[in-house]
Amino acid sequence: MAREFSTVGVVGLGTMGAGIVEVFARNGVDVVAVEISEPALERGRATLTRSTDRAVAKGKLAVADRDALHERVHFAVGLDALHSVDLVIEAVPEHLDLKQRIFAELDRVCRPEAILATNTSSLSVTEISVATTRPNQVIGIHFFNPAPVMKLVEVVRTVVTAPEVVADVEALCARLGKVDVTINDRAGFIANALLFGYLNHAVAMVESHYAAREDIDAAMKLGCGLPMGPLALMDLIGLDTAYEILDTMYRRGGRDRRHAPVPLLKQMVTAGLLGRKSGRGFYTYERPGSPVVVPDEATPLATDAAAADGARAIAKVGVVGSGTMATGIVEVFARAGYEVVSVARGLEKSATLREAVQTSLHKGVVRGKLAEADRDAALGRISWSATLDHLADVDLVVEAVVEELSVKQALFASLDEICKPGVVLATTTSSLPVIDVAMASHRPADVVGLHFFNPAPVMPLVEVVRTIRTSPEATATARAVCATLGKTGVVCADRSGFIVNALLFPYLNDAVKMLEASYSTADDIDHAMKLGCGYPMGPFELLDVVGLDVALAIQRELYLELREPGFAPAPLLEHLVTAGYLGRKARRGFRDHSHH
Ligand SMILES: NC(=O)c1ccc[n+]([C@@H]2O[C@H](COP(=O)([O-])OP(=O)(O)OC[C@H]3O[C@@H](n4cnc5c(N)ncnc54)[C@H](O)[C@@H]3O)[C@@H](O)[C@H]2O)c1
Repeated sequence: MAREFSTVGVVGLGTMGAGIVEVFARNGVDVVAVEISEPALERGRATLTRSTDRAVAKGKLAVADRDALHERVHFAVGLDALHSVDLVIEAVPEHLDLKQRIFAELDRVCRPEAILATNTSSLSVTEISVATTRPNQVIGIHFFNPAPVMKLVEVVRTVVTAPEVVADVEALCARLGKVDVTINDRAGFIANALLFGYLNHAVAMVESHYAAREDIDAAMKLGCGLPMGPLALMDLIGLDTAYEILDTMYRRGGRDRRHAPVPLLKQMVTAGLLGRKSGRGFYTYERPGSPVVVPDEATPLATDAAAADGARAIAKVGVVGSGTMATGIVEVFARAGYEVVSVARGLEKSATLREAVQTSLHKGVVRGKLAEADRDAALGRISWSATLDHLADVDLVVEAVVEELSVKQALFASLDEICKPGVVLATTTSSLPVIDVAMASHRPADVVGLHFFNPAPVMPLVEVVRTIRTSPEATATARAVCATLGKTGVVCADRSGFIVNALLFPYLNDAVKMLEASYSTADDIDHAMKLGCGYPMGPFELLDVVGLDVALAIQRELYLELREPGFAPAPLLEHLVTAGYLGRKARRGFRDHSHH
């Protein structure tokens, strides 16, 4: 029979502890909530009150239930108050010596049968456990932020944790309405091991002025459907906590440079910029603890200020190419009211392209998303051509031909001769350096990357890539055009993977390496990222959709450009590609799709 947990203790009522208290109290468990001092206790109490009041305001919690919840919580300063609890969860700052001290003390104070749990994100549960005389009753219970919302709990067993203790804690998680994955004691467990390299990389992008904070966050939200961008997430986690987690993972996890905290992070922590909890981190908040972002000196001006940056007027747009991307891009521009000159290689290709665009627009009408008159107007704005000469009077050219440098370079050399001065020339390349394309013309200042996502009419994001030769006016023009298209244009430097792929694919590759190391299963890893981080798909689901060959090609390029050892493609990924297990399109990837 599973052990009864009628009273639990929570030590440390910061970002995580206060949320953990709420989780237990909401589920009918009495809680002894402990802090180091009266002021800290008051802060913890205030956090709990704010959170439950918000739940009441949102209609998610009845007033009577909130009051009952608060009755179940007893606040106290000092660990002595924990003498009769059945289980303790420790959620103090991420320092091994501090946690060891607290566990030694808990061992003295608590009943001999009490389970002692740590919410550590990256420290060794084993090392914490040996500070007690009962390491077999010590376990990791890793909640996710915010604890009342996120469904996942990682249950971490050490080599000495008793099997009954693991089973009892698993049953407890179920009672709390959580989904648990039980894993061994390794730095970062599942979710953080896959998350923190990505977060640190995003911070490095800010530090190197690769892209603005808003653009990095928008790119990951709109390009990958993540619930929040990496920098907003860093602010939620707390920069001090994130720093400690990275530092521990770096030291414990094989000194992967990607986990070495970016210097900017340390500077921000030293300066007291800790994220939401201090009212200022990567963003500025209404007040400490508030989720509401307020403008600060780094907030970009509204888009109508684009003109001030010298954005050029664009009325007529040339689109070169006849593949999937060109088809979508022609449609997007025509629907947004631009006059479009579509140039394909030969009349036959032009006719096929025209049909594809007509079909797609017609589908919009059938689905009730587009009026017939608007469809006809959009089609009326497109002229179909098989010669580049028709681009002589356009204001913007978007090139979406085959992903081959020599082909794109030849095209840009021709555009140089045909187009009028002042035209913005854009390439949709997803993997070639934009500067290599730009230098094929004599006007590199006018060349930008416009990286649309597939399907272009649906995806809300466009990456605007500026090279070291791109003029501010060309960048401003590209960004303004994106806004007119109803898309968010994010500006970034000309490096492999731009923002989205550079941040996404190393994470996917890391998930493959984790599977390869038999640390966990594809199902548990997918679960962990969906339920712990709110991702719309787990890494293996996503890899099967994207195509393993595509993922491998992107990962190889990132590795070749940046020479980051951690970016080396996972051997398992290479083998699956070699074996023809490419994902859904091959009916088999990480999973078998032959029955769907
Ligand atoms: N922040 C996150 O997103 C997150 C998510 C999962 C797990 N964690 C882990 O949870 C733990 C707590 O992190 P956090 O972000 O909540 O930290 P935090 O800094 O927000 O809160 C820590 C709290 O512990 C209190 N404290 C310090 N020493 C104490 C002592 N001796 N006795 C009692 N209380 C003491 C502090 O006053 C503070 O309120 C860490 O191990 C962290 O790795 C954090």
